[in-house]
Amino acid sequence: MPSNQPMADENKEPAAPASAAALQPRPPRQKEPNPGKTADTLGDKGRRRFVFHSMAAFITLLLVCFARFFFPRTLFEPKTRFTIGYPGDYGFGVDTKWQQKFRIWVCRNASGLFVIYARCTHLGCTPDWKPAENKFKCPCHGSGFDSEGMNYEGPAPKPMLRCHLEIDPTGQILVDTLNLYDFDTGTKQFKDLQPGTSGPLLVV
Ligand code: FES
Repeated sequence: MPSNQPMADENKEPAAPASAAALQPRPPRQKEPNPGKTADTLGDKGRRRFVFHSMAAFITLLLVCFARFFFPRTLFEPKTRFTIGYPGDYGFGVDTKWQQKFRIWVCRNASGLFVIYARCTHLGCTPDWKPAENKFKCPCHGSGFDSEGMNYEGPAPKPMLRCHLEIDPTGQILVDTLNLYDFDTGTKQFKDLQPGTSGPLLVV
């Protein structure tokens, strides 16, 4: 039986496409200000900066340590053979002008000229010359030495050592602090004592 009903679906116009406005690209949404998020971003930046600086400092330290390998670990010590001028430059008594540079005192008495190595024979401190008391006094444990370096008080067990001396070709006194003379308690003399133009005592 033919249907009286109109062929609604067949005659119907196809569904209209979505409106043109709906297909238009949407304008970007304006971000709404978010105070909480802004604070987080600032915090992140601060953290990033901190990490960056920490790493930069660490790398710099590593580079410095690495560069240190290219420099010799040399100990710069004073010369052990040197001249100190002419015998006529030194009068009687104790001259301390070379104490800082060479750790020596230049002394002259009636016997001649000699050089004391400024090292206490107790534990190696450098004594002070006390002109008012005419003695060397060690600040560490109180040892005392007379003007010739002979111990007479405190724990120092023996006199201070004397340096080898020579007169060089120019007439100056040459001091050798690697060649030291020890006091011989048997002979009561500094070992190898040969007064002359070389040895622990210069007769000049
Ligand atoms: S080091 Fe001089 S008294 Fe001890």
